[in-house]
Amino acid sequence: MKGIILAGGRGTRLNPLTKITSKQLLPVYNKPMVFFPLETLLKSGIKEILIIVSNDRPGDFMRLLGSGKEFGAKFTYEIQDEPKGLPEAFIIGKDFIGDDNVVLILGDNIFEEDFSEEIKNFKKGGKIFVKEVSDPERFGVVEVNENNKAISIEEKPKNPKSNLAITGMYIYDNRVSEFANNVKPLFRDETDITEIHKQYMSLNELEVKKINGEWIDAGTFESLYKANSFIRQKELNKKD
Ligand code: TTP
Repeated sequence: MKGIILAGGRGTRLNPLTKITSKQLLPVYNKPMVFFPLETLLKSGIKEILIIVSNDRPGDFMRLLGSGKEFGAKFTYEIQDEPKGLPEAFIIGKDFIGDDNVVLILGDNIFEEDFSEEIKNFKKGGKIFVKEVSDPERFGVVEVNENNKAISIEEKPKNPKSNLAITGMYIYDNRVSEFANNVKPLFRDETDITEIHKQYMSLNELEVKKINGEWIDAGTFESLYKANSFIRQKELNKKD
């Protein structure tokens, strides 16, 4: 299993903070944000990791994270010239993925969950991780059948069919690069990860797993603040 951290994007919702640095380099209590998705991958046993960054600050990411040796892993870097959407990660990462399965984690997503078992037991298809939320209309929402397979996905629905929000952690088999090539841009020239999920879903191969631990997408001022206090509390608890 290989891992990709997608750490490009515009970060417009965090302007003006993101005028001078990347969103994923901003501090979350005691570490740059990107450390958290990185630790999630490392903790789950992934050792080969591709870090995709935007073209304005690749040097900062390399200076911060290096070759991976310090983390007992191997890091590769690629540049996404324009933020053309999440599916592009699998086109940029095609050679890196090679014949393996792959996990994609978003560089601004913070998870408490341990995904080791999920990664170890993954065989085929696609697997997405969802969290029960009280305001599903703000997220991508999935409806599931009794076998934990996705049967519908809607982006920010007015009348959500469930309260299961799709998080920024996905596992796919090797077909994902081919499926990413089939995705057409929707609006603003951007492709949507939902279009990859729908291809697995149409084959009845999109599995849905509910997570219980905290999940924070730190892309807004409110959620960045929440991430800071969540990590602070965890650090303080460690000292007790
Ligand atoms: P978003 O938060 O959806 O987008 P953004 O980071 O550009 O922020 P904003 O909406 O405020 O402008 O992106 C989720 C994650 O994926 C984030 O870590 C950035 C990354 N990303 C890319 O690396 N490339 C892309 O083309 C897109 C759309 C996102």
